[in-house]
Amino acid sequence: MKVYEKLLQDNKQWAQSKIDQDPDFFNRLVNIQRPKILWIGCADSRVPPNEITQTNPGDIFIHRNVANLVVHTDLNMLSVLQYAVEVLEVQHVVVCGHYGCGGVKAAMTNTSLGLINKWLRNIKDVYRYHDHEIDALHDEAARVDRLIELNVQEQVYNLAKTSIIQKAWKDRKGPFLHGWVYRLEDGIIHPLKEMAPGEPLEHGIYEYDNL
Ligand code: CO
Repeated sequence: MKVYEKLLQDNKQWAQSKIDQDPDFFNRLVNIQRPKILWIGCADSRVPPNEITQTNPGDIFIHRNVANLVVHTDLNMLSVLQYAVEVLEVQHVVVCGHYGCGGVKAAMTNTSLGLINKWLRNIKDVYRYHDHEIDALHDEAARVDRLIELNVQEQVYNLAKTSIIQKAWKDRKGPFLHGWVYRLEDGIIHPLKEMAPGEPLEHGIYEYDNL
């Protein structure tokens, strides 16, 4: 059996097992989704959001890209964010990075990798903001781990800089923003950073006063 054929076969088994456990499972989800959480995570196959949080279809709205970045010109991410915040009215936005992230590791090298250079440059910028702290660590693995954490924190700040989040904070005192990091070695998620609605940004120049 080909790899993709196994996916289709297993899907049928999964759907049947869901119906066996709860005959109404799919009917409830057909017409509406009411996820309370938007998850922005890495595309890495080892960090599947629903599986590592034991959540079900309908529970989490998900956007994934290389190294869980929130780039303010990324129409894909911004469209997901706007829909989740303004239409679904999610209560929480989680940026979840992970230790061992290949995107962050690649950004810490001087190797040109083609098109993805442009994406990884956002991570190089995070490194530049914190180079003194990172360079003071003597172990290479510790430097990568720290940039992974700082990258998550930066993406939480990037969310708070969007007019989408700032307008929601003003209009409905939500959502809360969270920065988490997942450890591949033990499967545990560690919270790193939280921003409550209305919390001041790193610099006032990012705050819009006419929303
Ligand atoms: Co990654």
